[in-house]
Amino acid sequence: MKKILITGGAGFIGFHLAKSLAVNKDNKIVIVDNLQRGKMDDDFNGLLNNENVEFINGDLTSIDFYKSLDKDFEHIYHLAAVNGTKWFYKMPEEVLRINTISLFNILEWIKGFDKKPKLLFTSSNEAYAGALSAFDQLPLPTPENVPLVVEDTYNPRWTYGGTKLIGELFVIYYSKAFNIPAVIVRPHNFYGPRAGFDHVIPEMSKRIIDKQEPFDIFGADESRTFCYIDDAVEAMVMLMDSQKTDVGIAETIHIGNTDEITMENLAKKFFKIAGWQPVEYKINQGLQGSVKRRLADISKIEKMVGWKPKTNLDDGLSKTFEWYKNYYQNFSK
Ligand SMILES: NC(=O)c1ccc[n+]([C@@H]2O[C@H](COP(=O)([O-])OP(=O)(O)OC[C@H]3O[C@@H](n4cnc5c(N)ncnc54)[C@H](O)[C@@H]3O)[C@@H](O)[C@H]2O)c1
Repeated sequence: MKKILITGGAGFIGFHLAKSLAVNKDNKIVIVDNLQRGKMDDDFNGLLNNENVEFINGDLTSIDFYKSLDKDFEHIYHLAAVNGTKWFYKMPEEVLRINTISLFNILEWIKGFDKKPKLLFTSSNEAYAGALSAFDQLPLPTPENVPLVVEDTYNPRWTYGGTKLIGELFVIYYSKAFNIPAVIVRPHNFYGPRAGFDHVIPEMSKRIIDKQEPFDIFGADESRTFCYIDDAVEAMVMLMDSQKTDVGIAETIHIGNTDEITMENLAKKFFKIAGWQPVEYKINQGLQGSVKRRLADISKIEKMVGWKPKTNLDDGLSKTFEWYKNYYQNFSK
């Protein structure tokens, strides 16, 4: 039996990761989440029906909480964090406290294990997003080794990116000092069912379901890439299962897709999938500070473990749209 801990497992990525790992009955999955954002909805309750999945409602910022946990995990996926732009503005001090202290507590906890578990830490493309505008010479696709930048300490938006930046440093140097095998991943726009309600794809789904007229498109000529959640989960598991992450330095690895699409074309693709077209759409400015193009270099993960995204955007968007349509028709009232 392989024991796997997933922190933040009631959230978007953690839920899909746990669901995928639970298929193998030789895995025993323990999910820790304090439901700050994750929800006990039908999907999550369905996951908990698996005999090999256990849920513990706990706060990772509390040192005392760790006393109740087993010490024989082989893999720890540390995904718990305050995520979602509105929280960066609403409670930046809490973003700093929760994201940093929970990671610090986990590292302090596992450094004392006789047999060290392997740790995966989810950083973010926000750790280097500031560098894209601070140095407009950055290469595209952007590799992992560009400078990490907090563009403006007085703009609360950067608290989240700041916690990912310091988090990467913590993981690299605790891994080195205490021989903890570890890997740092930077997710780039994962999407799929049950992805919350803030990101561009869930938000666009809602306005399509509401048949918004005229339909707003923000930053129409800005391009982004989107990585379907099943592909993302596969990438994380491949990295954790690979012998290449057993020893040595904690590598930092991008997970994302390289198919770029502009916001205008994303909306048009969505209209086709939904079978609805607005009479008129309105082009609006992108959000302040948002860059024209973001494209991650994902050649490192391909070289390391042979992973490449498989799901095309049409298929991923169709599955995602179905989930949101069902949610808004049946559960959101
Ligand atoms: N979704 C993406 O595309 C994306 C992009 C970049 C980085 N990430 C990172 O990946 C990780 C997972 O992202 P997600 O999209 O699933 O986010 P999410 O918000 O859906 O999940 C995070 C979970 O952590 C839980 N949590 C927060 N504070 C906690 C605490 N103190 N104790 C226990 N649980 C706590 C929340 O309740 C939530 O369920 C995060 O670290 C996030 O920063 C995600």
